[in-house]
Amino acid sequence: MTKSPFPEGFLWGGAVAANQCEGAYLEDGKGLSPVDLLPSVEEGRWEAARNPKKALETTYNYYPSHESIDFYHRYKEDIALFAEMGFKSFRLSISWPRIFPNGDDATPNEAGLEFYDRVFAECAKYGIEPVVTINHFDTPVELFKKYGGWKNRKCIDFYLNFCDVIFKRYKGQVKYWMTFNEINMILHLPFFGGGIDVNGEANPEEVKYQAAHHQLVASAMATKLAHEIDPENQVGCMLAAGTTYAFSCDPKDVWRALEADREGYFFIDVQARGYYPSYSKRFFKENNINLVIEDGDLDVLKNHTVDYVAFSYYSSRLTSADPEVMKETEGNVFATLRNPNLEASEWGWQIDPLGLRITMNAIYDRYQKPLFVVENGLGAVDTVEADGSINDDYRIDYMREHVREMGEAIEDGVDLIGYTPWGCIDLVSAGSGEMKKRYGFIYVDRDNEGKGTLDRSKKKSFDWYKKVIESNGSDLA
Ligand code: BG6
Repeated sequence: MTKSPFPEGFLWGGAVAANQCEGAYLEDGKGLSPVDLLPSVEEGRWEAARNPKKALETTYNYYPSHESIDFYHRYKEDIALFAEMGFKSFRLSISWPRIFPNGDDATPNEAGLEFYDRVFAECAKYGIEPVVTINHFDTPVELFKKYGGWKNRKCIDFYLNFCDVIFKRYKGQVKYWMTFNEINMILHLPFFGGGIDVNGEANPEEVKYQAAHHQLVASAMATKLAHEIDPENQVGCMLAAGTTYAFSCDPKDVWRALEADREGYFFIDVQARGYYPSYSKRFFKENNINLVIEDGDLDVLKNHTVDYVAFSYYSSRLTSADPEVMKETEGNVFATLRNPNLEASEWGWQIDPLGLRITMNAIYDRYQKPLFVVENGLGAVDTVEADGSINDDYRIDYMREHVREMGEAIEDGVDLIGYTPWGCIDLVSAGSGEMKKRYGFIYVDRDNEGKGTLDRSKKKSFDWYKKVIESNGSDLA
């Protein structure tokens, strides 16, 4: 056992999102979330996510999010298990349509607020610090239907109204907030990221960046509000990260990789530095993107930057400037070439622990703000043995190497405040809607068709992670 590079008070924990774990999709007055319209992958989840109007008109056989893992009714048991692992933090999201079922309601849904009262009380009981994502792929469907989602500037007000309610209600109970999950996702899955549909738009890129502008302004205004309501509040942005490598040392490939990284950094440049990056000017011009920026927007962005930079990291990416080479790309949301130096998960996500250290150093060099790794993990098929045990050594191996590289990054000088691996309890996959793509330390008995008892059980990684937390990251054996 070596000396731990992790600082005292490091926020070890785990992460989930309301729309992937709560279920109870219409209970106690909740409105619809985008994923509530989506079927499993076999029934065309990707197609539905890319064509939400069609999804609205279609009745599918099975919707994985409707019951999900039923965290809504089982949160006590789940949080007790997190506490048993020694969690210092728990990242969750507040379902916007649970609080404002239509998004534009005059008053919030008290039953929804009470649910999170109970969840935060349970966290407090065990000394677990909640880390709350305000919008995790959860713009109310009614806002999409009525206003076109974040295309419409009105969403800024609706979102701020939601923020005002939850900042006041949970003051003193929640200190760590994130304004939007994977804010760059709006470019890749606009319905998830912004409750928008760009099909049929003359210039879809322009629409996405306009919606992004609205989110960036909303994020800065929410940061202002959070600080006004409670100066203790810490507000972060959140990026789907993963450094892009160049396919070859051909400078054209290197340039393409830099451009690919800028696509994501663009958002964080605004949220952490407070202004549109210099390169965006040329990008907007060449893509005929003309943003409507109202008076005062740029000042808000400038004056209310985030306190920390959070990100998800599952893999590095690989790109080339050569369209012929790029024909071979894989991956679901972020197209990437297969890196011959890396192994991949059963879902083709390439495993690159050193890539995490590279990504952390790159982000820290760029922003010099505390970092928070709020998602990381291995989606894999688990087997329950006859004696009930689940020996997920592959997950332990994955996590061990990633934790080790986080430690290296800290030694490199990166200021890292916490680590909340994704899906600390098995939940519904955002991308595929599957249950069998499991990330958890805790197994949930439920399959892709929604069958199973929903009983929870500990995997081998449960005890491993417990030991990691207990030793503050020095015992990774
Ligand atoms: C991130 C999201 O993109 O990746 C999560 O923030 C998501 O919501 C996670 O679940 C893993 O992706 P998937 O498709 O395996 O669920």
